[in-house]
Amino acid sequence: MVTEHIQPTRLGTVVCDETTPNVMEFSFVVEGGPSENVARRGQFVGVSTESGLVIARVQDLIRVNRYYQHAEAVREYQSRGEPLRSIFPTDRWQYTVAYARVMGLWVDGRTLRPYFAVSPGAVVRAVDEDTLAGFLRLDLQNGLYLGTLGHHNLEFKPSIERLLSKHLAILAMSGAGKSYFVSVLLEELLSRTKEQGRIGIVLVDVHGEYSYLEKASRKDLGLSEEDIEVERIRGPHFQIPVQSLSAETLGTFAVDMSPVQIRDLRRVIVSMRRQRHHGYSLEDLVEYVKGDETISRNTRDALIGWLVGLHETGLFGREASPEMKNIVRPGKLTIIDLSDFISLKKKQIVVSYLARELLHLRRQAKIPPFLLVLEEAHQFCPESRQELALPKSQIETIAREGRKFYALLCLVSQRPVRLSTTVLSQCSNQAILRTTNPYDLEHIGRSSEGIDRAALDTITTLEVGEALFVGEVVSVPTFVKIRRRHLEPMGVAAGLLDALKRADK
Ligand SMILES: Nc1ncnc2c1ncn2[C@@H]1O[C@H](COP(=O)(O)OP(=O)(O)O)[C@@H](O)[C@H]1O
Ligand SMILES: [Mg+2]
Repeated sequence: MVTEHIQPTRLGTVVCDETTPNVMEFSFVVEGGPSENVARRGQFVGVSTESGLVIARVQDLIRVNRYYQHAEAVREYQSRGEPLRSIFPTDRWQYTVAYARVMGLWVDGRTLRPYFAVSPGAVVRAVDEDTLAGFLRLDLQNGLYLGTLGHHNLEFKPSIERLLSKHLAILAMSGAGKSYFVSVLLEELLSRTKEQGRIGIVLVDVHGEYSYLEKASRKDLGLSEEDIEVERIRGPHFQIPVQSLSAETLGTFAVDMSPVQIRDLRRVIVSMRRQRHHGYSLEDLVEYVKGDETISRNTRDALIGWLVGLHETGLFGREASPEMKNIVRPGKLTIIDLSDFISLKKKQIVVSYLARELLHLRRQAKIPPFLLVLEEAHQFCPESRQELALPKSQIETIAREGRKFYALLCLVSQRPVRLSTTVLSQCSNQAILRTTNPYDLEHIGRSSEGIDRAALDTITTLEVGEALFVGEVVSVPTFVKIRRRHLEPMGVAAGLLDALKRADK
């Protein structure tokens, strides 16, 4: 028996007008009766040609009915009180024209740039899932299962290589599903086996929304063999060893240190290091500065005031806690929970130290490749110079140089317009969820090459949990419905009403 190759569903027939079909666009009349929606906006469609499969995406659908083309005639029947429908078979004359934009030419498992126009009369079909997976360069076997493709029965599974070998930005208005998406991503990264390749993850949890992951077990993630390792470090337990900080580094924790102050501080630190082999605290530094007559009175007072201020944050001590070398391990998630801190400055000091140490250790290959996930990224590397942002230059350095040795960033922000353009432009991969603010949209549009006007418009219409992926991760901008997470944070109120009921027990 000969098994026949099953052709994907027919969707329509290519038609021509003055300008189409051309290399990049074509229109087709959609098959089926007037009320059928066989082709959908955003769906991938294909036209089979001798030179390969032309893959396109439906950009828009237009309904046409010649009975309704003449306003005067419609008005005439209307005024007589007889709908056109009751006199003419109007339904039979209705049809839909779909406008499709060509995405690429698929030949023998490779995507080529399109170089010819499809023929009028050619049949347009749905694209089968295997082809689409190949075209979008998904890795159905070992990829990260993040969701499903809009309008297709296909799991969106980019390879870790594609998604994370460049920095990733997750942008959207608040409530659109950014943190939810991050938790899905974390689940996928945590459940990878050694053979599949595991990355170390450090997550700065500004609101304490990821602490539930600490209790996650392998079983929760549907795993049987490999262990998962999650550690949570709360802000107040975080300690920066003063001894490891140079005058310049200490200087970055203040916004307004003068070169003279730094120079004097450098001298102080050099002699402290010589004297105190077992480390020293900020208080020790203060004592030393107080007694150092060689420093001018003004500088001394300024330094003391400023060191005392730093000491009061409670973030500094003789020893490091945690040891930076231990927080990054393949497949391990370390949550730095800063939800106990109200002061933005404290959070910034921690992030600033983290970013610098991690990059430094990674450069020397003392820790494995890592992903640093930063929520509220605009608070740590803002665009504006006016805003206080201690970690900005460290994050910008990772953004510019980190990729080469796999020190990778995942930046999450609900105010893309306030996020440093330097950093944003280094995020070659972006997942954009619902965004309606026109300034944010414009900023997103400018920072990512892959987005055209049509895609930008669609971002405003996305639903919660839907994302547009652009960049290296996909060959063309792709709409994805983010999957459900396996683990749900317990005790989180589902909405205002739920919160009210919980509080009123
Ligand atoms: N992919 C999704 N599937 C189901 N529900 C989702 C999804 N994404 C978001 N949600 C819902 O929307 C709420 C807000 O999402 P969240 O990730 O906290 O938004 P954001 O971080 O962008 O402010 C979540 O608590 C969840 O109920
Ligand atoms: Mg969030």
